[in-house]
Amino acid sequence: MAEIILRNISKIFGKDNQVLDNINLEIKDQELFTIVGPSGCGKSTLLNLIAGLEDLSSGEIFFDKVKVDHLPPAKRDVAMVFQSYALYPHKDVFENIAFPLRIKKLPKDKIKSKVQKVAKMLEIEDFLQRKPKELSGGQRQRVALGRAIVRKPKVFLLDEPLSNLDAKLRVSMRAELKKLHSEIKTTMVYVTHDQAEAMSLSERVAILCDEKIQQCDKPEVIYNYPKNKIVAEFIGSPQMNFFEGEIVEKDDELFVQFNPFDFFSLQKKGFNYLIKEIFFGIRPEDVILSQKEEKRFFKGKIFAIEPLGDRTYVDILWEGKRVKAQTTSDFWGKTEEFFYFSFEPQKIHLFDKKTGDSLRENL
Ligand SMILES: Nc1ncnc2c1ncn2[C@@H]1O[C@H](COP(=O)(O)OP(=O)(O)OP(=O)(O)O)[C@@H](O)[C@H]1O
Ligand SMILES: [Mg+2]
Repeated sequence: MAEIILRNISKIFGKDNQVLDNINLEIKDQELFTIVGPSGCGKSTLLNLIAGLEDLSSGEIFFDKVKVDHLPPAKRDVAMVFQSYALYPHKDVFENIAFPLRIKKLPKDKIKSKVQKVAKMLEIEDFLQRKPKELSGGQRQRVALGRAIVRKPKVFLLDEPLSNLDAKLRVSMRAELKKLHSEIKTTMVYVTHDQAEAMSLSERVAILCDEKIQQCDKPEVIYNYPKNKIVAEFIGSPQMNFFEGEIVEKDDELFVQFNPFDFFSLQKKGFNYLIKEIFFGIRPEDVILSQKEEKRFFKGKIFAIEPLGDRTYVDILWEGKRVKAQTTSDFWGKTEEFFYFSFEPQKIHLFDKKTGDSLRENL
């Protein structure tokens, strides 16, 4: 068990390939913490730095207030599940799980009971004599997890452990991981490029992009109050709609002006309106559709309809832009028809066009 503190961490490969720039994170003891970001953003590098498999370019790492960044991996008491499971192909499941205990030179009967306990927890007791190649992807995944948890490490690092599984198995393994975490109560740092996985798995999520932590908070806060446009673009599927606009004041009222004739009124509360050039963002589920013209609705043409069973997405073409709206499965509009749309006023997002920062106050 350990609290992990990353202070001012940077990593530069070679002369000038900067991958991480001044990362600061505090991961609580026993927390299941997720780091999410697009492919190549440095997630594995960050885990390798925590594990001691890579050297820091600058910064400090503490486990329970003890500085560990100068320690070799073996001294940090960290277990890592790698992006590829990295099982020993010639050893059977029992020996794969037992391996870290054999290195520690534990007595035989202790090893046996520990491996059996972990195998039971992960429901792989029936496969202990099989070789990895005789297992499915999901079973191999569990063996890799078993090998990591068998020795009760201080810190548990998981690098996209579900990336090789099919969609259905991923969802069920997510739930199992959550349950496993509640049983073993070890600090877990989980890395994924899948934003839905990150949001569903953990209490807190950090978004890593462009070498920096863009936001670190509870999933619902990140979803509802993205700190900048990068986070707003990355979190949520389908993606938030964005429009370029300008904040204008008319007769003591505030509006977003999209083009010479289209305005949308803004509430005066909660935003910094001093910045005039903006991106206006709205999630598909916060776009409202209507068949008839209403006040503050815009007129567009249906471009595409995607029924998904429980909901339908409608793409509307408006002023040369595509606007995605989420609606109910009984949507009866047809492509090429004119339709009207508006925005849920409480759910709009405004970003500084230059910096991408949210104009929301108190973020
Ligand atoms: N040992 C290395 N030497 C040089 N560059 C490296 C090294 N390891 C990683 N990189 C570079 O650092 C960047 C981040 O790589 P990293 O593997 O950490 O990304 P990632 O977020 O884990 O990506 P993915 O989601 O694809 O696994 C990449 O541009 C990669 O090419
Ligand atoms: Mg990686």
